[in-house]
Amino acid sequence: MLLALALSALGCGDDGADRPSDPVFPERDWEAEADLLLAGPDWYRHAVFYEVYVRSLQDSDGDGIGDLPGLTSRLDDLRALGVDALWLMPIMPTPFKDSGYDVADYEGINPDYGAMSDFEALLDAAHARGMRVIIDLVLNHTSSEHAWFQESRADKTNPKADWYVWSDTPSDPNNSCGTQNVVFGPSAWEYDAGRDQYYFHRFYPEQPDLNYESPEVVAATLDVARFWLDKGVDGFRCDVISLLYESADDCGFLDKTKAYIKQLRQVVDEYPDRVLVAEPTNLTDAKSYFGSGNDQFHMAFHFGFGYFWSLQFGSQNAAATLATFQNALTEYPAGSQDALVIGSHDVVRAFDAAQGDESRHRRAALIQMTMRGSPFIYYGEELGMRSGTAKVVDFRDSARTPMLWSGGPGYGFTTGTPWLPFGADADSTNLEVQQGDPASMHSYYRSLLGLRRGRAVWGSGDAEILSVDHAGVFAARRFDADQRYVVVVNMTDDPVSAKLALPGGESRPGRVLGQGTLTIEGEAGTLSMPARQGAVFRTK
Ligand code: NOJ
Ligand code: MG
Repeated sequence: MLLALALSALGCGDDGADRPSDPVFPERDWEAEADLLLAGPDWYRHAVFYEVYVRSLQDSDGDGIGDLPGLTSRLDDLRALGVDALWLMPIMPTPFKDSGYDVADYEGINPDYGAMSDFEALLDAAHARGMRVIIDLVLNHTSSEHAWFQESRADKTNPKADWYVWSDTPSDPNNSCGTQNVVFGPSAWEYDAGRDQYYFHRFYPEQPDLNYESPEVVAATLDVARFWLDKGVDGFRCDVISLLYESADDCGFLDKTKAYIKQLRQVVDEYPDRVLVAEPTNLTDAKSYFGSGNDQFHMAFHFGFGYFWSLQFGSQNAAATLATFQNALTEYPAGSQDALVIGSHDVVRAFDAAQGDESRHRRAALIQMTMRGSPFIYYGEELGMRSGTAKVVDFRDSARTPMLWSGGPGYGFTTGTPWLPFGADADSTNLEVQQGDPASMHSYYRSLLGLRRGRAVWGSGDAEILSVDHAGVFAARRFDADQRYVVVVNMTDDPVSAKLALPGGESRPGRVLGQGTLTIEGEAGTLSMPARQGAVFRTK
């Protein structure tokens, strides 16, 4: 009785709690193994990334705006969650028409966030903890306030006259994307009185597209990458990278763009252990971003799951989820690595994607953390942070509310007035209350990340989708020479019983996370899962 109590207090008993336990296999020094995995050039395959909106993470000076010193002061909290690397949304000077995706100076720091010395201090503090930092690189467009654009718009003959895409008419026949694929607004062409011409902008009018047909633009943007690599950043998340070039007959991911990316990769490869992450614009298949597997991107976001899991869970059917991972496993070149997300600054909070059913968020995170690839957690996701209702920049501010570290009124984020009001339910979705609660979302994330820690199989092992005789069950196995796991998620709202094929010779399934039972006989597994649950079984 006492032992049972002690074990359940440690979260080790079969008490149904979502806590890792390893009843069959001995523990090892996973921290030491993690240090080894995260030290080499393949660090990014094993790292847990965390996407940070600096403006909303931590304010250090009471102005209500998150900043770099604030972020630096939170590194230990993020380490405690299990985060190994940060992706910072744009940190450069900007008029903030698109939350920093409108860069006014590629070699500076947004003064709201601090000074270059603050960024250097962040890099040092992160590196001292063995953490990495990648930054957003926004190359498709600049801010209209960037000096390059100011020069380009001055007249038709200045040295930077062709650094942007200019046309006498608002629909250039040489650029069919001028009328298609405009992302924000009714038209992709904006009239400029100075030149009496129109310039092309795929996004807001304040974000003119650079003209990569100009060799000078190619050289200047590669120099931007060098500048930050010299500073010591560990890599880049490349914004809408497929859109660099446009043409008369194709708005897609052109060969010219791929050639540019190869040049960028060569620059990155001049520095040790740096990585490139693509933001695909093809949301259902990121294959084209990997090139041969080692000449374009190291990673690309897997949006086929990341932006569609809400629908996939809503359908109560696992087919689409299985298909998108199957596609990645069989179609992507060797060496490619999925960047696994369930949200970002561009889409609704996971809580909303889950339609308020927290178990959907948890099951989506379980798939995110266990499929082959590297997870990227969007700040606050680990707390199930809710949406806000206020809008300061644009409609996406609902998912960009300030981080909730402790109780109100400033929730540990600021001593002043937050630049954007906090999201809903802040008293139950802050770190302080969740840390003390083993049933909280935060505790669940700690369990998931604890399961990955130090185990190479998750980041770089093999994966195989398993066939199941129940349409609502997602099942996969992960394996390398050291360990084997079976991951099963019941995507329905009902209990399920199912048979699954286990051709890998799995045996002795020990449940290490979640709920449900799996028994194995020969090459067949028999599964029983409660409603809305998922589980991870270790089989070697
Ligand atoms: C993709 C970014 O994620 C999004 O936030 C931004 O608005 C566009 N690119 C334009 O840069
Ligand atoms: Mg501040």
